[in-house]
Amino acid sequence: MTELEALRSELMAAVGKAADLDALERVRVSALGKKSRITEMMKGLGAMDADARRTAGQALNALKTEVADAIETRKRSFSDAELDRRLMQERVDVTLPARPERQGRVHPISQTMDEIVAILGEMGLAVAEGPDIEDDWHNFTALNIPPDHPARQEHDTFYLPGAGGDERLVLRTHTSPVQIRTMVATKPPIRIIVPGRTYRCDYDATHSPMFHQVEGLVVDETTHMGHLKGCLIDFCRAFFDMDDLPVRFRPSYFPFTEPSAEVDIGCTRKGGEFRIGHGDDWLEILGCGMVNPKVLENCGIDSARYQGFAFGLGVERMAMLKYGIPDLRTFFESDLRWLRHYGFSALKVPTMVGGL
Ligand code: DAH
Repeated sequence: MTELEALRSELMAAVGKAADLDALERVRVSALGKKSRITEMMKGLGAMDADARRTAGQALNALKTEVADAIETRKRSFSDAELDRRLMQERVDVTLPARPERQGRVHPISQTMDEIVAILGEMGLAVAEGPDIEDDWHNFTALNIPPDHPARQEHDTFYLPGAGGDERLVLRTHTSPVQIRTMVATKPPIRIIVPGRTYRCDYDATHSPMFHQVEGLVVDETTHMGHLKGCLIDFCRAFFDMDDLPVRFRPSYFPFTEPSAEVDIGCTRKGGEFRIGHGDDWLEILGCGMVNPKVLENCGIDSARYQGFAFGLGVERMAMLKYGIPDLRTFFESDLRWLRHYGFSALKVPTMVGGL
């Protein structure tokens, strides 16, 4: 064995034996440092003749590279092992209960929307979505609210800068434009619910410039007013968890439905206390109706063959009624004490199976 080969196996053995990063660093210094045997032998090259110097020089350089690579590889295995060790040690047990002072809460709006979606989803309606920034055509015109229609004024619309007409951009004033988007994009039968944000330029104890609605739309060949009533009566009773909740349909007007109705639920205000259920009073909770044939036609659906029903409700109002929240503005103040009081546990997932 030449001197070089002997040195090679000696250094490689030392690298292999180094038990930790410190030991490896010591091996590196003694194998490749200024006082190492390799450096010593490099210095000896000067005394050789040219041919011998070239061969010996190349062999020494190769050895240097080989040892340096071996050290690097060993180092990486140490850090991998170190990482594995830390991962094992710092493993998080996700089944541990959260610390009470750090528990997050689900906002009542989210909870209420989830509840509404769970009830209507169980009836076979699927969630659909649309953009918050709409154009005038989807938000108004296609819904049979032409430019001079008084309903436009009632919507207190936030218009975006830009030209007028059907392309003019608005923050959607209701979730109804998603009816249009769905009917334009898909053929009946259609069964959807649309939970989402809506915007109107209005602010007081019962109005917020941003609020939430859930829209419903069912279109099929045989859809009729009986389906609308059945669906909404069942929905109200499930939502307020009251099997005998009185529900009534009162004739009303919306440009996009014909006939239109508003749905009231029974309540009482006796003795200054408000309670939902049997009583002497009624409370309006949502708008609905049979989809106006003009709206179907605007979306390219044959109104001689198809009919539909639709409804829209305000999520904040439903949440206030169900959970006794008196002021709408508090929903959006991000007050932690409020959220701790009115919020829900993240594990209290609404489902029809378990009861809400
Ligand atoms: N879009 C109406 C609003 O924001 C609510 C509404 C009423 C939606 C009747 C409907 C409906 O789909 O049929 O005031």
